[in-house]
Amino acid sequence: MTTLTAQEAYRLWAPRYEPETAVSFLENRLVASLGPPLAELRLLDAGCGTGRRLRDAGAALGVGIDLTPEMLAGSGGGLLAAADLRALPLHDAAFDVAWCRLAIGHVADPAPVYAELARVCRPGGTVVVTDFHPAAVAAGHRRTFRDADGRVREIEHHVHAPEAHASLAAAAGLRLHARREGRVGPVLRSFYARADRLGAYEEQRGLPLVLALAFRRVVP
Ligand SMILES: C[S@@+](CC[C@H](N)C(=O)[O-])C[C@H]1O[C@@H](n2cnc3c(N)ncnc32)[C@H](O)[C@@H]1O
Repeated sequence: MTTLTAQEAYRLWAPRYEPETAVSFLENRLVASLGPPLAELRLLDAGCGTGRRLRDAGAALGVGIDLTPEMLAGSGGGLLAAADLRALPLHDAAFDVAWCRLAIGHVADPAPVYAELARVCRPGGTVVVTDFHPAAVAAGHRRTFRDADGRVREIEHHVHAPEAHASLAAAAGLRLHARREGRVGPVLRSFYARADRLGAYEEQRGLPLVLALAFRRVVP
């Protein structure tokens, strides 16, 4: 199977991206569990895709950026712009909360991503980063989607160990305050059942699929 770059893959996946997968469903539950309540807050979603998470977030201000214009095109509006995670076209300390959800694994070197997330988050604010779990990759899972012809396509993914996330974040001035793992378990059973893969479900029970990290920007 040829591996597609992230931009090529999401260009193809964009029209059919929104239905939840097992990974995105698990990830969304993890992020909800990490808080904080967003009602009064300015929220950035860096690598926002279609902006679907911003739509439901209920933040006072929601801004999204993404590398793939086709993903943004399906968003139905909102404050979204095409940009790279490694060079955010945003002011310093402009947000109370900055998310980077299931996007950092598409970047070979996460250091500039952490530097940018820390820069645009106000001191004392929260940065939430989620990633496809290294244990899932080690178990043979890959980041894939079906294209318009129904072919399974693989997306470029770079494995970043939890410790690498934490040390790069620390170097950027972010202190880890919560780490969660989303594992194969009963909340995902229906996804496996729909794909007629209950045998795989039993085999994979307990396997971590998603890593979620929450950081506070250190107050100087
Ligand atoms: C799995 S999707 C996640 C989208 C969204 N965060 C969500 O949870 O629905 C990954 C997204 O990361 C974006 N992406 C990949 N590399 C990027 C980069 N260097 N800068 C900005 N966005 C990037 C892709 O275009 C894609 O929309």
